[in-house]
Parts: sequence; structure tokens; C-alpha cells
Amino acid sequence: MDIMEIPTKWNLVFRQEVIRILSARNVVDKHFSDLENLHQKVDIKLFDYVVREKENELQHMFYDTDDKFISTYHRFLNELKDYLKFDFYFQATPTIRFHAPKLKNEDKFPEFHSDIQYGHPPQENNVWMSLTENKHSNFHVISKEKSISWLKEYKSDWNVFSKVSYETRDINSDFNKRGLEMSSEIPSTLDNVYMFDSSCIHAGTPRIEETRVSMDIRINPVDKFVDGYMGFGVVKPQFKPGGRFGYNIKAIGDVYENNRI
Ligand SMILES: [Fe+2]
Repeated sequence: MDIMEIPTKWNLVFRQEVIRILSARNVVDKHFSDLENLHQKVDIKLFDYVVREKENELQHMFYDTDDKFISTYHRFLNELKDYLKFDFYFQATPTIRFHAPKLKNEDKFPEFHSDIQYGHPPQENNVWMSLTENKHSNFHVISKEKSISWLKEYKSDWNVFSKVSYETRDINSDFNKRGLEMSSEIPSTLDNVYMFDSSCIHAGTPRIEETRVSMDIRINPVDKFVDGYMGFGVVKPQFKPGGRFGYNIKAIGDVYENNRI
């Protein structure tokens, strides 16, 4: 499967949810709506990439949402399931990312990678949606075919590719230029979600203008599920139903059945 564009109404719904939670936590006042200029309204330290590798406080704030947010998330996934026509396990907590121009440690970007090199299963799909409308998303994804052929230049070994990518910091290096040339920039619009295979190489680049907020999740088809995958890093997420920092214990089909009763 390649990069799939799915029309949806959910970007705006999640945008409102993010604004609601930012306001409930006093990050912004209750009249705030200009998410594209969030970086001008809050302490920029909340955006700086100083939490773990390439993460910031705003992202971490949204690892803990509330019941309303999670039930919205489940309704979206249920609609996605109907569209895709297969049931799936899903990341229990979606990742909400906040990027803005001129941030501390932004020179860590881009780092071209596929999620497979972080331990994710090859059966997984990445689902990405923008919650802001920007001229540029600065989010670049390479098709599966091109990703596999780029990887071949590194003995088809994700560890080798990963090391080169991690050590190549200069955005103007041949390696990063190559990645940018091969990739498509995903549009930062409010009426589509995008889905791509976990072997697709992707990267974000430092932002030039405006705040971009996006949500990404991983889904794994129930009938293709293979146990035994675990992520790297400090938290070592377990990519199995009910796994630590991994998938929700029930597939979306089962969650929705229970909600209806
Ligand atoms: Fe990724």
C-alpha cells in the first residue's frame, strides 16, 4: 500500500478538542482559536525539543487527555474502520505533535526513518492528520517502493540506514537532499487524513512559518496481527493489544460494540 489520502471531517473535530484541552489547562485563554499562531501566544519553551529525542512539552501534555477526547478518538477510528473495511488494533493514546519555527534543537531534524527501525511491526500502518491549515506541513513521506530501494543501498539493513540518518544532521547533505527529493510533502489541510505503510521512510523538517499541529496513530489489522514486536528507547512500547504504551486492549470493532450496549 502506498500513501493513501482519505477524505474526512475529523481534522476540525480534533482541532477543537486540542484547543479545548489547551484552554482547560490554562495554556491559552478560552477565546483562543488561532492554532496556526500558537507559538506566538505561549512560552516558546513549551515547543522546544528538550524532552527525550525530538519531543516537546506540548506533545507530552497530550499523552494524558480526558474521557471526552478518547471517546471522540474511538468514534473517528470506528469511521476509519468502516472506510478501510477491516478491523484493527490501534495506538491507545494518539500522538499530538506541535512544531513551530526557531526552536531549540530543531537542527535534529530531518531524520529520515521508517517506524520499522524503531521496532514497529511491518503490518502496521501510520495514520496522520493535520490539525492546522498551513502552506507547508514540513512532513515528508517516501513511497514504499522508493523506501525499499533506498534501503537497498544500505544492505537492506534498517540499522545501517538508521545510523547514517541519525549521524547526518546537515539538511543540505546529499543524504537529506536525496530524501527530500524522493519524498512528497503531505498537505497540511483540514479535510484529509493520510495513511502509509510502516516501511515508508519519512521525516519532518524545521518549520519556517506558523505552528503546525498534527495527530498520528498506528493501526494494525486484526487479521494480520503478529505478536512479539517491541519498540526501543526509554519506554519500550509493546505493540500488542493491552501492551504497555502500545495498542488498546480491544480492536476498534470490539470497542464500538461495547459503547453501543
Ligand atoms: Fe516516524
